[in-house]
Amino acid sequence: MGAANNCLEWGFCYAAAPQKPLKQAVGRERRFVPNMKDSWASGDSYEYYMGRWSRLVAESFIEWLSVSPGLKWLDIGCGSGALSEAIINNHEPAAITAIDQSEDFVRTAKKRLGSRVHCRVGNALSLPLHNSSVNITVSGLVLNFIPEAEKALSEMKRVTDDGGTVAAYIWDYAGKMGFLTHFWDAAVEIKSEALNLHESKRFPDSDAGALKRLFEKAGFVNIETTSIEITTHFRDFDDYWKPFLGGQGPAPSFLLTLDKDTKYRLRHTLKSRLPTGPDGSISMGARAWAARGQISK
Ligand SMILES: C[S@@+](CC[C@H](N)C(=O)[O-])C[C@H]1O[C@@H](n2cnc3c(N)ncnc32)[C@H](O)[C@@H]1O
Repeated sequence: MGAANNCLEWGFCYAAAPQKPLKQAVGRERRFVPNMKDSWASGDSYEYYMGRWSRLVAESFIEWLSVSPGLKWLDIGCGSGALSEAIINNHEPAAITAIDQSEDFVRTAKKRLGSRVHCRVGNALSLPLHNSSVNITVSGLVLNFIPEAEKALSEMKRVTDDGGTVAAYIWDYAGKMGFLTHFWDAAVEIKSEALNLHESKRFPDSDAGALKRLFEKAGFVNIETTSIEITTHFRDFDDYWKPFLGGQGPAPSFLLTLDKDTKYRLRHTLKSRLPTGPDGSISMGARAWAARGQISK
């Protein structure tokens, strides 16, 4: 995908891919945020930044789905493979196909999952699968990044069997997503333009009601929602800060746009105010909202 390699002054490398300007997805108003792109190009950096937390949510999500073994699964926007791995660990699937738009993420997922999962590049809005080719389709932390989320759900519905299930989860950006909220609150203080990029503002409808409405619009039946709570625990401040330097996702992409001095001030502000324990570790709560719907027979 033509990614350019960059190294930051801390010696941490990332790959940035050229992408279109941001468009707000699951939100009341849709607006373009100029000169900023969410980069999804380096699976290894993503794993350190978000994959490790997504894995915790994925385990609870898969448990909540409570479906029978032997099904054909599809994982949309698989990233570094967190959700596919939870499926393998818990559900004895007959087969899993994992799809992501980023070649590098697909490479990382392949490396982690091996031959147990068929990983391929593809777009959620135009899935490279025939109608009714899987029994269950899932997607973790993706829908809010797709401007046409309803269309993506319709595609998931198309490729899933009648009577089958489509299910997804997203972070509660505007409610409880501690480590990102701290980052953006400090960023806005230092650079007011960051307000439009604050993920609680970009994704204000990341909650159970909005997810349910989205599933209803896409024509699912027997829709259910739930919340999944986790604790994001960082060994020390570096364990919190360094993953932001990897350039993957909204906050790290924003950090890349700052000059050295502004970056330093942001780091300093965060360090002085994060809830830090006597041993230097930092713990914050995070919540994801999940929804599932069935395709009527
Ligand atoms: C926040 S990451 C989530 C990754 C993984 N599911 C997880 O839970 O860790 C969002 C992922 O969605 C992918 N993505 C975004 N828009 C997509 C689209 N239209 N089609 C396929 N993948 C998409 C990105 O490349 C990225 O890997």
